Amino acid sequence: MDTKKSVHGEWSSRTAFILAATGSAVGLGNIWKFPYITGENGGGAFVIVYLLCVALVGIPVMMAETMFGRRSRENPINTMQILTKEAAADEHWHYLGWMGVIAGMLILSYYSVIAGWACAYVVKSFTGSFFDINATGAKSLFVNFIASPGELMFWHTFFMFATLLIVARGISKGFEQSIRFLIPSLFVMLILLVGYAMSTDSYFKGLHFLFNFDFSKLTGNSVLIALGQAFFSLGIGMGAVMVYGAYLPKNVSILETTAIIAVADTVVALLAGIAIFPIVFSSGLPLDSGPGLIFESLPIAFGNMPGGWLFGTLFFIMLVFAALSSSIALIEPAVSWLVENKNMARNQACFYAGAATWVLGFGSVFSFNIGSDVTLFGKTFYDLLDYLTANLMLPIGGFCIAIFAGWMMLQKHSEQELAMGNPLHYQAWRVLIRYIAPAAIFFVFLHVVGVL
Ligand code: PFF
Repeated sequence: MDTKKSVHGEWSSRTAFILAATGSAVGLGNIWKFPYITGENGGGAFVIVYLLCVALVGIPVMMAETMFGRRSRENPINTMQILTKEAAADEHWHYLGWMGVIAGMLILSYYSVIAGWACAYVVKSFTGSFFDINATGAKSLFVNFIASPGELMFWHTFFMFATLLIVARGISKGFEQSIRFLIPSLFVMLILLVGYAMSTDSYFKGLHFLFNFDFSKLTGNSVLIALGQAFFSLGIGMGAVMVYGAYLPKNVSILETTAIIAVADTVVALLAGIAIFPIVFSSGLPLDSGPGLIFESLPIAFGNMPGGWLFGTLFFIMLVFAALSSSIALIEPAVSWLVENKNMARNQACFYAGAATWVLGFGSVFSFNIGSDVTLFGKTFYDLLDYLTANLMLPIGGFCIAIFAGWMMLQKHSEQELAMGNPLHYQAWRVLIRYIAPAAIFFVFLHVVGVL
């Protein structure tokens, strides 16, 4: 398989891959979700568990997923088929590829709705809606906004359209060109916002909340949430990394690039927390206000500080950029499958995969307003999808990837593909992928279903 190339082309360089995969990793998960679930799960202790999940489970699984893609150079469904044959493993393993493609579309369907909120908030900030706003005003701005199916639908459509425009242009003209602009601007905006947070009175209170390790607040369920968040934030367990790996040139080190991406992703999540918590504290809103946390608290701060108009607009633009560089990765597994297996042109594949995901997104749009009473297992459509994908499908996908890489794939193949100069590095990865990562995922699940 050494000389095979993907029909979609390749990343032009190692940096292009690092930027694209960092773009996939850094998203709403870091800037919107990480702060609010950290708030809901008591702060520091949750952060520590999260970091452990990234290091012991996230990185080894991410390496395995990249390696699968680069070995086959095809979409995740074909990849799992090819690798299953090569390893002479049970053919059911190829369903892992299907699960990835489906998880990507399920996630994007609601991801695009939340990213749409961020787009709407760019406009709200820019047009001065936050000016002099108080807690009640910010809450009603948000509540009235999500109560309007028409507005949510408009922004969901807008965001899906922007995603598909990039994906339709392909690897070098679409993904690479947009990422080269999105990621550096995102970092600059984040640093500016951290600078602002440092100037507020609540800066140390925010830091204390993030880094104060009070384990009494930690429950078994919060460990599952931390694990799910590690998967969601790194974007692993579902084929996006696999498909990006398929476009990775042969000579690039998977260990090095994965480590850089995981560190960048974690640093952004922590910086987002450092930027956001002081502002949340100064707004006086409760920390556990859930998905609305940043949409309700940040406008109060932006509306009442000097230059808040500019910082607010920058913040929400940053959120949109982060979301966009992830959403393109979420749909690529489905698009590449349609192109490779159904002989479609990229445009056409984007149209079909995009339309299906867009329609599915209506369920999430309505779960914040006219459909908020429709629940299953006590969860709205949006909550259910979020739980199903982040807390179940991604960790289960990660578990299967670890088992396949550690136990099914021939050792000589993983050794050859990972090509880690130092044999000790390979041994360490092998122990993590065979024992530590699957055992950690398994025990967290046992705990949650109440067996432990
Ligand atoms: N990692 C993204 C985030 O943190 O927002 C979400 C994501 C992207 C999940 C790509 C899965 C994925 F394949």
